[in-house]
Amino acid sequence: MKINLSSFVSKKTPLVLFVCEKDLFLPNIPEGKKILEDAKGQGFTGKEFSTATLQPASGSPSSLVVLVGLGDKKNISSETIRRAGATAVKRVRSLAQKSFQVLNPNLLKNVSSEIYALTEGLVLSDYAFHKYKSNTGEKIRTEEATLIVSEKYLDSAKETVHLAKILSESACFVRNLVNEPPSHMTPGNLVSLAKEVWKEGKSSSVSIKIYEKESLAKMGMGSLLGVNRGSAEPPFLVHLHYKPQGARQSVALVGKGITFDSGGLSLKPAEAMETMKMDMAGAASILGVFRAIPQIKPKVEVHGILALTENMPGGKAYKPGDILKAMNGKTIEVLNTDAEGRLVLADALAYAGKLKPDVTIDIATLTGACIIALGSLVAGAMGNDDTLFQQIQKAGEKCGEKFWQLPLIPDYKEGLKSPVADIKNISSVRKEAGSIIGGLFLQEFVNGGHWIHLDIAGPAWSDKEFHYLSQGGTGFPTRTLLHYLLSI
Ligand code: BES
Ligand code: ZN
Ligand code: ZN
Repeated sequence: MKINLSSFVSKKTPLVLFVCEKDLFLPNIPEGKKILEDAKGQGFTGKEFSTATLQPASGSPSSLVVLVGLGDKKNISSETIRRAGATAVKRVRSLAQKSFQVLNPNLLKNVSSEIYALTEGLVLSDYAFHKYKSNTGEKIRTEEATLIVSEKYLDSAKETVHLAKILSESACFVRNLVNEPPSHMTPGNLVSLAKEVWKEGKSSSVSIKIYEKESLAKMGMGSLLGVNRGSAEPPFLVHLHYKPQGARQSVALVGKGITFDSGGLSLKPAEAMETMKMDMAGAASILGVFRAIPQIKPKVEVHGILALTENMPGGKAYKPGDILKAMNGKTIEVLNTDAEGRLVLADALAYAGKLKPDVTIDIATLTGACIIALGSLVAGAMGNDDTLFQQIQKAGEKCGEKFWQLPLIPDYKEGLKSPVADIKNISSVRKEAGSIIGGLFLQEFVNGGHWIHLDIAGPAWSDKEFHYLSQGGTGFPTRTLLHYLLSI
């Protein structure tokens, strides 16, 4: 969606106004009283995300006015504004309007975070994955929104809107990758997309290295190769690198890129497989970050490492009981081929360790247990540095993405001891602390520096439309990662 900025309301397009519950009033709006009276007549009370559509008589700022309720004034946060932006888009879309105006409500102390949230709400809720539909049901597409802000905020609002647009469009780019059918979004196709992202960033100090099967074998990545054995599609490791002049520090982003997780020979039940095209959401979010990097130019060096393969049960598939050797020399007894994310990350983390980054962040749809623990709106975070967690959490607060820390209890490592190899890929203590066990396994492959593991199994995907999230891939945690890179 195109987002314009103005300090004037035009009569030509519908106008969206936000109103609080209880003290329903529209300051500085000509005919505001009359508009509200009519809305009340329709039963509108300003309840959170309720709407009223009015066609006021002349004198009003626009001939079509949409009111969106924000609920009780004292509970309004930037998330309320982001969600209200989504409500506005959906209402205007249902009215088949090509463009509309929206008045920034000026309710939060920080006007710029309000404008930021509103813009994100508009862009993120405009997203739809219609590529494979013969009929979208939309006759007229809502293409353009004009944000009305007071003249004194106009200059700073320009920058804010620009940032919000880049970040949310990058999240939508990631949604597209996650939503593609798995037989199309293969490891090879993700590599082609990584190349496209690199081409866009080439002139902004972004480089790329692509490792194919033979090079992976040469580097000793037996763990990633083991997972790949049951698949007809070749594996890849992609290394994107952004190095701005005078970089303050370096961050390695390491992503799980399982383009389809059948579970392998430890086959998933049919229903659990239905969403497993999303098992590359971690890797996809890193491509989203690199899509935005040339536009926002963070002052830190960034490595993006994507471990790409399918997890399939073909005739050559790795088997429970097999022992794989990772790049750092550690041997892994595989007892469940469905715990494959940690196996591909073992090699990708060992590779990242060689780059000696100050900070390593791995991003993975790693465990179903994390969805049980934290639900579909919160990612689990585990690592060796509380400050890094706080930085991530704070970056998440800027864009409405939530993280919660789980403890890496060393005693739980006991369960990962193998009688025949250095470590097992699942714990002998089943059904307990599944996400933490995943984190403890990964820790064995991190080679120094600050590290955090983000288990995004829940928030990377939404089963249903939810405010500014559409059904399917969510783009999580692309926006958080970008805020984090801008904050350090
Ligand atoms: N990709 C799954 C985790 C997952 C489940 C992500 C549901 C999103 C939604 C992962 O590879 C997996 O299968 N993990 C196993 C680990 C177990 C075998 C220790 C799980 O969670 O059951
Ligand atoms: Zn799995
Ligand atoms: Zn998986």
